[in-house]
Amino acid sequence: MDRVGVIGYGHMGSMLVKGFLASGVLAPGEVVVASRSRGNLDACAAAWPGIAIAATNADLARRCRTIVIAVRPQETMGVLREIVPVMDGSEHLVSLAAGIGLHDLEEMYAGPVSRVVPTATSAVGEGTTLVCHGQWVGTDEALMVENLFSAVGSVMPVGEEDLAAATLLSSCGPALLAAIIGELAGAAARASSLPPDRALVLATDLLTATAAYLRETGRTPEDLIGEVATRGGVTEVGVQGFRDRLPGVFDGVFAAMLERYGGLRK
Ligand SMILES: NC(=O)c1ccc[n+]([C@@H]2O[C@H](COP(=O)([O-])OP(=O)(O)OC[C@H]3O[C@@H](n4cnc5c(N)ncnc54)[C@H](OP(=O)(O)O)[C@@H]3O)[C@@H](O)[C@H]2O)c1
Repeated sequence: MDRVGVIGYGHMGSMLVKGFLASGVLAPGEVVVASRSRGNLDACAAAWPGIAIAATNADLARRCRTIVIAVRPQETMGVLREIVPVMDGSEHLVSLAAGIGLHDLEEMYAGPVSRVVPTATSAVGEGTTLVCHGQWVGTDEALMVENLFSAVGSVMPVGEEDLAAATLLSSCGPALLAAIIGELAGAAARASSLPPDRALVLATDLLTATAAYLRETGRTPEDLIGEVATRGGVTEVGVQGFRDRLPGVFDGVFAAMLERYGGLRK
């Protein structure tokens, strides 16, 4: 059987196992999990009867055709050193590690390698998982991995040269938007007697409604601004305020995040 292994049962590993199984993309008997602490593995076995728990990472690698590595970036090379010696080159290695390139992975393992970047919102089946395939990944293997990760939302293949910027949008983005929602709600509460919790409900609803509107109508953000901001009106003042101040702020934030991303393994 072509089993899928997940190494590292932390935030991402447990979220992926849940997504693969709850969606029905995989059955428990098709999944093998390995992780460092016994407590996480016991929780996994209790949550998913029929799932296989591997005694070691190498044991998992011997039993799986697709191996998802969901440990932290600084732990990824150590895991590769454990598993590569027992692999025959036909297994598909899928790494979640931010900042570890296809070249680094292919230097360690001369077989099919992909990088994937899910996001926190994948836990509710929303958001985009970025996928970036290495030179030895065939069409069928690429489709298999993309289908697997469609269990936790949409999937977008990207070139590795764009992976960092795309990661800041899709994977760091939920935290960035959450910060913006908090600021919008805070400004409304500070400027009125509206309680902060009610302002937050309004701002959160605003975000989901705006996303649904853009998605369902196919209009662009610029179209929507044109619909809401009448000439000389209240919204135009707000949009102009953002246009005067935000591009510089956003460019600075992106530059700082890209610099940090580049140093992730250090
Ligand atoms: N969090 C996000 O939003 C996000 C988004 C996209 C991508 N990623 C990427 O996903 C990866 C995992 O992130 P995470 O947030 O899930 O981290 P995490 O919660 O710290 O989970 C990592 C897991 O790996 C286990 N582990 C550590 N060393 C191991 C080893 N040598 N062998 C087996 N298992 C080992 C840990 O076990 P213990 O519990 O015993 O320590 C832990 O359960 C990272 O590479 C990150 O860059 C994360």
